[in-house]
Amino acid sequence: MINNIKIIGYGSCMPSNIVTNEDLSKIIDTSDEWISKRTGIKERRISKGESTSDLAIAAAKNALDVAGISASEIDLIIVATSTSDCFFPSTGCTVQSGIGATNATSFDLAGACTGFIYATDVAIQYLKAGRFKNALIIGAEVMSKVIDWNDRGTAILFGDGAGAVVMTVTDEPKITKVYTKSDGTKSEVLKLKAVPIIDMYENVKTIDRSTMTMNGQEVFKFACNVIIETIDALLANTSVKLEDVDYIVLHQANSRIIEYVSNKVNINIEKFFMNLDKYGNTSAASIPIALDEMYKKNILKSGHKVMLIGFGGGLTWGGVLLEL
Ligand code: ACO
Repeated sequence: MINNIKIIGYGSCMPSNIVTNEDLSKIIDTSDEWISKRTGIKERRISKGESTSDLAIAAAKNALDVAGISASEIDLIIVATSTSDCFFPSTGCTVQSGIGATNATSFDLAGACTGFIYATDVAIQYLKAGRFKNALIIGAEVMSKVIDWNDRGTAILFGDGAGAVVMTVTDEPKITKVYTKSDGTKSEVLKLKAVPIIDMYENVKTIDRSTMTMNGQEVFKFACNVIIETIDALLANTSVKLEDVDYIVLHQANSRIIEYVSNKVNINIEKFFMNLDKYGNTSAASIPIALDEMYKKNILKSGHKVMLIGFGGGLTWGGVLLEL
């Protein structure tokens, strides 16, 4: 038997420190006007001491409260992140310890800004197959720690935060469709080096932990194309029409990307939830942060059809069509 899936909990946690475009323009050669016009971003949260796992644990606790289940009932924890505190233990294991999810299997997944979609896909497959019953899926990032603050082309885009959902199996019939892709040949378009180089033969020990690099215009074109591809793929071979979808939650990278897609598919921009003005691009965290805000605003209703779509480094992209 293949199980049906539904989301029963939402949570998020952002650092309290707000950095506005005005604040940035005091340390970088930029302006509120440029950032607002090109990206839609007005401010972002920047960590002052909060680690990725601190934010992930707080988001997870909020999601468990909403779900009304205890941490010990969670069987699976997946944290999508490119900014984990450690290579090991994984952020997943740190979250497990932080919330007391003693019965969980926990790990991280690196899919850049598509990470939450990939993680949701993995959780869905486990739950559908009956291997696990309750999954905690988290997107968490401290992008501020990997940004080149001298590069005005990237520094203005990103913010820190975490979002989480609890997903469970259900007897209710629910639509679930997933689509994912990647293209490793385009890895140079967005890159964040990680591994320390310790060469035993040369006896050279250097930490090659560079900051993120991005070709903004290539990312922009790529994003616009793959979002349309993903929308088409999610609707293919289903009875769902795009007009039937109540909300489309795109990775919160740039309002111009979202406006382009809205025009291209001829769907009112109101259906595309946006909160990037307040948080900037929080990479793998942006979609679950958006979902939690929608939950708190009481705009998510049982039976709603919601499309979640991510895109980012790798290059990676994909989406999930869910019935709430
Ligand atoms: N403030 C002021 N001027 C700036 C800034 C800034 N912060 N950044 C760049 N400029 C200048 C440039 O130097 C350039 O000046 P010039 O004309 O004198 O040479 C001019 O503005 C135009 O620069 P472009 O890079 O061509 O600007 P563009 O319109 O492409 O906007 C942006 C740049 C906002 C980065 C856009 O390309 C974009 O949003 N791309 C998508 C990026 C994205 O979504 N990345 C996240 C991907 S997800 C992930 O996996 C991380």
